[in-house]
Amino acid sequence: MFLPMAFVCAQLATLFIVAFSTDNCKTLQGKANGALRSDIYTVNNSAGQSYRIYCQFYEGYGYTFLSSSTNVTVDMASLYDNTSHVIIRHKASKGQGNQYTSTIAQLGSYASVPVSVQYSAFSGYQGPRNTHMAPYIFVGYIPISMSVRGTMQGWKVNGEELNFTNCDGNPNSYIAFFFNPSGQMYRGHVGQRNDLLYKWYDSSSEVAQDKRIPHEFFVYYHEVHLGGCGGYSVGSNVPTWGAVGMKFSEY
Ligand SMILES: *[C@@H]1O[C@H](CO)[C@@H](O)[C@H](O)[C@H]1NC(C)=O
Ligand SMILES: *[C@@H]1O[C@H](CO)[C@@H](O)[C@H](O)[C@H]1NC(C)=O
Ligand SMILES: *[C@@H]1O[C@H](CO)[C@@H](O)[C@H](O)[C@H]1NC(C)=O
Ligand SMILES: *[C@@H]1O[C@H](CO)[C@@H](O)[C@H](O)[C@H]1NC(C)=O
Repeated sequence: MFLPMAFVCAQLATLFIVAFSTDNCKTLQGKANGALRSDIYTVNNSAGQSYRIYCQFYEGYGYTFLSSSTNVTVDMASLYDNTSHVIIRHKASKGQGNQYTSTIAQLGSYASVPVSVQYSAFSGYQGPRNTHMAPYIFVGYIPISMSVRGTMQGWKVNGEELNFTNCDGNPNSYIAFFFNPSGQMYRGHVGQRNDLLYKWYDSSSEVAQDKRIPHEFFVYYHEVHLGGCGGYSVGSNVPTWGAVGMKFSEY
């Protein structure tokens, strides 16, 4: 049978799309013509393995949260398209209690540098100490390549610039949340709480009851590290459930 070239190409293109395109909150909402509600959705990675996300839809944008039950490779870049900030949700207990939210963005002087969200990886960044608690969500701010001793570093929490001078060139600039499925203990020293590290906890605002997300999207272990003299802390200093929301826009 003779198949026109255009037909063959179209079939190949379809195969390619089926094999490699992955869904996210934005594509799901697009396919549903905007009719989807904020809820849990199951999507596939590029290897066809499924995992669960929570899509929180607002008007024309929203936030993606990754389930703490995830145990397949996730290309985080497929889950958000706005690299200006993430939101951190937190809450005190496993129950249906109050939830609080904060945004963490780059300082104005680093505004053109993307905030990088990675799944059990830290490409371009100094990694966390507690990688034995993987899987984890890594949120990186100032990459190693831009981290210079003596420069002003930090981040912008709920619109407030929090800065420090990097004293020794140590390039830590991240907050990470660990799923810790096998219940490991934090490794090494616990560090300490300070304003710079925990403004996202201290200056958060309460989330309306109908905007709360399910417990499945929170994890109990985190590590935060800035500098070179910004500070280091693990969750035992500020025990809390936490979740990272990644922004997508314009569906
Ligand atoms: C996800 O992958 C499974 C096979 O692993 C497949 O049955 C399912 O149709 C895929 N879902 C989507 C939306 O592609
Ligand atoms: C995650 O997957 C790996 C390999 O697929 C498996 O060995 C491990 O038990 C899984 N962990 C959990 C917590 O399900
Ligand atoms: C990303 O989000 C920020 C803050 O919500 C907004 O000001 C900005 O316009 C967004 N960027 C893009 C490219 O949509
Ligand atoms: C933080 O930023 C402010 C305003 O830009 C500046 O005056 C201050 O010196 C900075 N602090 C450090 C430690 O760099």
